[in-house]
Amino acid sequence: MNILLLGSGGREHAIAWKIAQSPKVDKLFIAPGNAGTAQAGTNVYIKADDFQAIKDFVLANNVNMVVVGPEDPLVKGVYDFFKNDASLAGIPVIGPSKAGAQLEGSKDFAKAFMMRHNIPTARYKSITAENIAEGYAFLESLQAPYVLKADGLAAGKGVLILETLEEAKKELGDMLNGMFGDASKTVVIEEFLTGIECSVFVMTDGTNYKVLPVAKDYKRIGEGNTGLNTGGMGAVSPVPFANDAYMAKVEEQIIRPTIEGLKAEGIDYKGFIFLGLINENDPKVIEYNCRMGDPETEVVMLRIQSDLVDLLEGVAEGDLDKRTLTIDPRAAVTVMLVSGGYPEAYEKEKIIYGLDDITSDNILFHAGTISASGRILTNGGRVIAVSSYGADKEEALAKSFAGAKKILFDKKYFRSDIGFDL
Ligand code: AMP
Ligand code: GLY
Repeated sequence: MNILLLGSGGREHAIAWKIAQSPKVDKLFIAPGNAGTAQAGTNVYIKADDFQAIKDFVLANNVNMVVVGPEDPLVKGVYDFFKNDASLAGIPVIGPSKAGAQLEGSKDFAKAFMMRHNIPTARYKSITAENIAEGYAFLESLQAPYVLKADGLAAGKGVLILETLEEAKKELGDMLNGMFGDASKTVVIEEFLTGIECSVFVMTDGTNYKVLPVAKDYKRIGEGNTGLNTGGMGAVSPVPFANDAYMAKVEEQIIRPTIEGLKAEGIDYKGFIFLGLINENDPKVIEYNCRMGDPETEVVMLRIQSDLVDLLEGVAEGDLDKRTLTIDPRAAVTVMLVSGGYPEAYEKEKIIYGLDDITSDNILFHAGTISASGRILTNGGRVIAVSSYGADKEEALAKSFAGAKKILFDKKYFRSDIGFDL
């Protein structure tokens, strides 16, 4: 079969790497991809949200399945676009419908969904300019710190955590006044939750589901989880506290009610659900995403032993219960090399050296790279994820840090404490 994968980050390189190992695949295309995905398949210069161009490509190249990496095309309705077009209707899209993608596309929708289905999460109130007084009153009823979330997609920047009531009230006003454009016309105010976070990934055909390896990502730029939030500086799997007892709670209190709730509400969901959870004893949902995580995918794909394409076919055909998921018992980690300055301003087009010195100890997933005249250049804040296996996370991390040091580009930075808190 021929598969088209949408996206261009480290997550997509990791998915492409895994898809390319499947004996079921003839051709793998990635749109638009990066210099790394070009090693796993063929990049095509189409933006992941240009649905008409995607349609033309799919029809011209006998694509049999479309796998969606990032949230943007899903929130914009790529699933529905295929479903409602007679010439595309037989071609499965792995990813939820526009309605299902609202779990990520609207925090207000996600919170109300969790309330309807008794899924544990932080107490909250949704506020618009019309009821800002209720927002102030709700903030007054909470303890510091205060959590404010833009309702819509804000490129991962829409969550503010504020230490004082005064700041929280001011920022609430600013958000409603367009700090994140239309995305913050509605703001979700949440109770602050404590505990350790982890990322749980579920693959579902709308009825059946498989729980993929659990991972933990490291979002802050600085060592010891300090400084600004980034897209993610590294990840580790497995997560020691996510043992059988913990996962039984997650399945019973969160995963099953989520899948049953989607079904009961008539929402088509054939794809990945990413549960951002907090608290190692009493898991609560911090966020839903309608896609895999980045950089978590750069470790999760290493730990899936089964044929990913067989599982994706199960998602498309509604018989995921008949497919097998086997998990590699080894630990997997990834360390992200980023451009100096990230997540604020940084420079691009730095030549990347040392890629040929990498041994089989490391698996490199390109996040932001581009090929130009025979060289590979940096093309983003996050540049390359250096992934490794190990008998335990320490062994895997030693390999990733060794690989991270061999790759060189001007102003390279990485966190050398990934996994420190587990
Ligand atoms: P989100 O985009 O919803 O994942 O939020 C970004 C980050 O903010 C999360 O990964 C948490 O570290 C933090 N966060 C979000 N909501 C809460 C909350 N209710 N309590 C504590 N931390 C939170
Ligand atoms: N690593 C967090 C995310 O993908 O949103």
